[in-house]
Amino acid sequence: MSAPWKQRLTRSLHLSRSKPEAKYFQLATVGLDGMPDNRTVVFRGFSDESDGLLVVTDTRSEKFTQLQRNPAACVVWYFTKSREQYRFKGNTAILIDAQTDTTNVVDTHNEVITKTALTPFWSSLSAGTRSQFYWPHPGREVTEDEPSNADIDVLSPYFSVLRIVPTEVQFLDLKASPQQRESYTWQEANWHVKQINP
Ligand SMILES: Cc1cc2nc3c(=O)[nH]c(=O)nc-3n(C[C@H](O)[C@H](O)[C@H](O)COP(=O)(O)O)c2cc1C
Repeated sequence: MSAPWKQRLTRSLHLSRSKPEAKYFQLATVGLDGMPDNRTVVFRGFSDESDGLLVVTDTRSEKFTQLQRNPAACVVWYFTKSREQYRFKGNTAILIDAQTDTTNVVDTHNEVITKTALTPFWSSLSAGTRSQFYWPHPGREVTEDEPSNADIDVLSPYFSVLRIVPTEVQFLDLKASPQQRESYTWQEANWHVKQINP
Protein backbone atom coordinates (compact mmCIF):
# COMPACT_ATOMS: atom_id res chain seq x y z
CA MET A 1 0.00 0.00 0.00
CA SER A 2 1.28 3.45 -0.83
CA ALA A 3 2.19 6.00 1.85
CA PRO A 4 -0.79 7.99 3.23
CA TRP A 5 0.86 11.32 2.32
CA LYS A 6 1.31 10.05 -1.23
CA GLN A 7 -2.44 9.54 -1.63
CA ARG A 8 -3.00 13.10 -0.47
CA LEU A 9 -0.27 14.50 -2.71
CA THR A 10 -1.63 12.59 -5.71
CA ARG A 11 -4.98 14.29 -5.10
CA SER A 12 -3.35 17.73 -4.84
CA LEU A 13 -1.52 17.12 -8.13
CA HIS A 14 -4.79 16.06 -9.73
CA LEU A 15 -6.60 19.20 -8.51
CA SER A 16 -3.84 21.35 -10.05
CA ARG A 17 -3.40 19.30 -13.21
CA SER A 18 -4.19 22.32 -15.42
CA LYS A 19 -1.30 24.30 -13.88
CA PRO A 20 2.19 23.30 -15.09
CA GLU A 21 3.78 25.34 -12.29
CA ALA A 22 2.15 23.04 -9.73
CA LYS A 23 4.93 20.56 -10.55
CA TYR A 24 7.66 22.89 -9.29
CA PHE A 25 8.96 22.52 -5.77
CA GLN A 26 11.90 23.81 -3.76
CA LEU A 27 14.67 21.37 -2.95
CA ALA A 28 17.06 22.26 -0.15
CA THR A 29 20.38 20.52 0.40
CA VAL A 30 23.35 21.02 2.71
CA GLY A 31 26.12 23.05 1.08
CA LEU A 32 29.76 21.99 1.29
CA ASP A 33 30.21 24.87 3.74
CA GLY A 34 27.43 23.47 5.95
CA MET A 35 25.01 26.24 4.95
CA PRO A 36 21.57 25.42 3.52
CA ASP A 37 21.20 25.73 -0.24
CA ASN A 38 17.89 25.87 -2.06
CA ARG A 39 16.52 25.88 -5.61
CA THR A 40 13.42 25.14 -7.68
CA VAL A 41 13.12 21.81 -9.50
CA VAL A 42 10.45 19.93 -11.46
CA PHE A 43 8.63 16.94 -10.03
CA ARG A 44 9.10 14.03 -12.45
CA GLY A 45 6.84 11.50 -10.74
CA PHE A 46 7.04 8.96 -7.94
CA SER A 47 9.58 6.16 -7.88
CA ASP A 48 8.29 2.63 -8.21
CA GLU A 49 10.80 1.19 -5.75
CA SER A 50 9.91 3.41 -2.80
CA ASP A 51 7.67 6.35 -2.03
CA GLY A 52 10.21 8.78 -3.42
CA LEU A 53 9.95 11.97 -5.45
CA LEU A 54 11.91 11.92 -8.71
CA VAL A 55 13.87 14.87 -10.09
CA VAL A 56 16.30 15.02 -13.00
CA THR A 57 19.51 16.99 -12.71
CA ASP A 58 22.96 17.58 -14.13
CA THR A 59 25.86 15.72 -12.48
CA ARG A 60 27.94 18.90 -12.88
CA SER A 61 25.55 20.94 -10.70
CA GLU A 62 26.25 22.08 -7.14
CA LYS A 63 23.33 20.13 -5.76
CA PHE A 64 24.74 16.91 -7.20
CA THR A 65 28.10 17.43 -5.48
CA GLN A 66 26.35 18.41 -2.26
CA LEU A 67 24.12 15.32 -2.28
CA GLN A 68 27.10 13.06 -2.88
CA ARG A 69 28.64 14.49 0.26
CA ASN A 70 25.42 14.57 2.29
CA PRO A 71 22.20 12.93 1.03
CA ALA A 72 20.00 14.95 3.42
CA ALA A 73 17.35 16.97 1.63
CA CYS A 74 14.22 18.99 2.35
CA VAL A 75 11.41 19.79 -0.03
CA VAL A 76 8.73 22.43 0.25
CA TRP A 77 5.85 22.39 -2.18
CA TYR A 78 2.94 24.82 -2.24
CA PHE A 79 -0.18 24.31 -4.33
CA THR A 80 -1.67 27.76 -4.92
CA LYS A 81 -4.97 26.48 -6.27
CA SER A 82 -5.82 24.18 -3.35
CA ARG A 83 -3.83 26.27 -0.83
CA GLU A 84 -1.92 23.28 0.50
CA GLN A 85 1.68 23.01 1.60
CA TYR A 86 3.80 19.86 1.83
CA ARG A 87 7.17 19.68 3.55
CA PHE A 88 9.43 16.67 3.18
CA LYS A 89 12.58 15.69 5.02
CA GLY A 90 14.66 12.69 4.04
CA ASN A 91 17.53 11.32 2.05
CA THR A 92 18.28 11.40 -1.63
CA ALA A 93 19.55 8.54 -3.73
CA ILE A 94 21.38 9.51 -6.89
CA LEU A 95 20.77 7.36 -9.93
CA ILE A 96 23.49 7.63 -12.52
CA ASP A 97 24.53 5.63 -15.51
CA ALA A 98 27.08 2.90 -14.81
CA GLN A 99 28.96 3.56 -18.05
CA THR A 100 29.26 7.30 -17.75
CA ASP A 101 30.05 7.40 -14.04
CA THR A 102 33.17 9.46 -13.72
CA THR A 103 32.11 11.01 -10.44
CA ASN A 104 33.56 8.43 -8.10
CA VAL A 105 30.39 7.69 -6.19
CA VAL A 106 31.21 6.22 -2.82
CA ASP A 107 28.19 6.99 -0.69
CA THR A 108 26.00 3.96 -0.05
CA HIS A 109 22.88 6.06 -0.68
CA ASN A 110 23.90 6.50 -4.28
CA GLU A 111 23.06 3.97 -6.87
CA VAL A 112 24.92 3.39 -10.10
CA ILE A 113 22.41 1.88 -12.48
CA THR A 114 22.56 0.70 -16.04
CA LYS A 115 22.10 2.88 -19.05
CA THR A 116 19.08 0.77 -19.97
CA ALA A 117 17.40 1.73 -16.70
CA LEU A 118 18.11 5.44 -17.11
CA THR A 119 17.17 5.67 -20.78
CA PRO A 120 13.36 5.69 -20.27
CA PHE A 121 13.69 8.79 -18.07
CA TRP A 122 15.81 10.48 -20.70
CA SER A 123 13.41 9.60 -23.51
CA SER A 124 10.42 10.90 -21.55
CA LEU A 125 11.90 14.42 -21.35
CA SER A 126 11.14 17.15 -23.87
CA ALA A 127 13.80 17.95 -26.49
CA GLY A 128 14.36 21.32 -24.75
CA THR A 129 15.07 19.69 -21.39
CA ARG A 130 17.38 17.07 -22.93
CA SER A 131 19.40 19.73 -24.73
CA GLN A 132 20.12 21.44 -21.37
CA PHE A 133 22.28 18.46 -20.45
CA TYR A 134 24.55 19.43 -23.36
CA TRP A 135 24.88 23.05 -22.29
CA PRO A 136 28.23 24.29 -20.92
CA HIS A 137 29.14 23.54 -17.31
CA PRO A 138 26.37 24.92 -15.02
CA GLY A 139 27.43 27.55 -12.50
CA ARG A 140 30.65 28.55 -14.31
CA GLU A 141 31.27 31.93 -15.90
CA VAL A 142 29.98 32.27 -19.44
CA THR A 143 32.70 32.09 -22.09
CA GLU A 144 32.30 33.27 -25.68
CA ASP A 145 32.81 30.19 -27.79
CA GLU A 146 31.78 27.04 -25.96
CA PRO A 147 30.75 24.47 -28.56
CA SER A 148 27.29 23.06 -28.05
CA ASN A 149 27.37 19.55 -29.39
CA ALA A 150 23.87 18.30 -28.73
CA ASP A 151 22.65 14.98 -29.97
CA ILE A 152 19.59 14.84 -27.81
CA ASP A 153 18.77 11.28 -28.83
CA VAL A 154 21.88 10.15 -26.97
CA LEU A 155 21.79 9.93 -23.18
CA SER A 156 23.97 12.75 -21.86
CA PRO A 157 26.89 11.66 -19.65
CA TYR A 158 25.76 14.41 -17.23
CA PHE A 159 22.24 13.08 -16.79
CA SER A 160 21.12 11.86 -13.38
CA VAL A 161 17.90 11.15 -11.55
CA LEU A 162 17.47 12.05 -7.89
CA ARG A 163 15.15 9.97 -5.76
CA ILE A 164 14.14 11.92 -2.66
CA VAL A 165 12.88 9.43 -0.10
CA PRO A 166 11.16 11.16 2.82
CA THR A 167 11.12 9.96 6.41
CA GLU A 168 9.07 12.95 7.62
CA VAL A 169 6.24 14.72 5.82
CA GLN A 170 4.13 17.63 6.98
CA PHE A 171 0.94 18.75 5.35
CA LEU A 172 -0.85 22.08 5.91
CA ASP A 173 -4.26 22.94 4.49
CA LEU A 174 -4.88 26.68 4.63
CA LYS A 175 -8.44 26.40 3.32
CA ALA A 176 -9.77 24.44 6.23
CA SER A 177 -11.09 26.38 9.19
CA PRO A 178 -9.36 25.82 11.52
CA GLN A 179 -6.37 25.10 9.29
CA GLN A 180 -5.52 21.41 9.12
CA ARG A 181 -1.98 20.25 9.79
CA GLU A 182 -0.79 16.64 9.69
CA SER A 183 2.51 15.01 10.36
CA TYR A 184 3.60 11.70 8.85
CA THR A 185 6.64 9.96 10.30
CA TRP A 186 8.34 6.84 9.00
CA GLN A 187 9.16 4.64 12.00
CA GLU A 188 9.69 0.91 12.30
CA ALA A 189 8.74 0.30 8.69
CA ASN A 190 5.41 2.14 9.00
CA TRP A 191 4.01 5.61 8.47
CA HIS A 192 2.62 7.18 11.66
CA VAL A 193 0.07 9.92 11.08
CA LYS A 194 -0.82 12.64 13.61
CA GLN A 195 -3.03 15.70 13.46
CA ILE A 196 -1.06 18.61 14.89
CA ASN A 197 -1.89 22.21 15.73
CA PRO A 198 -1.36 24.57 12.81
C1 LIG B 1 10.79 26.54 -12.73
C2 LIG B 1 12.18 25.96 -12.60
C3 LIG B 1 12.35 24.60 -12.74
C4 LIG B 1 13.61 24.03 -12.63
N1 LIG B 1 13.75 22.66 -12.71
C5 LIG B 1 14.96 22.09 -12.51
C6 LIG B 1 15.09 20.66 -12.47
O1 LIG B 1 14.13 19.89 -12.60
N2 LIG B 1 16.34 20.16 -12.27
C7 LIG B 1 17.43 20.96 -12.08
O2 LIG B 1 18.51 20.43 -11.88
N3 LIG B 1 17.33 22.30 -12.09
C8 LIG B 1 16.12 22.89 -12.29
N4 LIG B 1 15.99 24.26 -12.30
C9 LIG B 1 17.21 25.09 -12.12
C10 LIG B 1 17.57 25.11 -10.63
O3 LIG B 1 16.63 25.90 -9.91
C11 LIG B 1 18.99 25.63 -10.39
O4 LIG B 1 19.12 26.95 -10.87
C12 LIG B 1 20.04 24.74 -11.07
O5 LIG B 1 19.69 23.37 -11.01
C13 LIG B 1 21.40 24.94 -10.41
O6 LIG B 1 21.28 24.65 -9.05
P1 LIG B 1 22.50 24.21 -8.12
O7 LIG B 1 23.67 25.07 -8.54
O8 LIG B 1 22.05 24.50 -6.73
O9 LIG B 1 22.75 22.76 -8.35
C14 LIG B 1 14.74 24.86 -12.40
C15 LIG B 1 14.55 26.23 -12.25
C16 LIG B 1 13.30 26.77 -12.34
C17 LIG B 1 13.14 28.25 -12.15
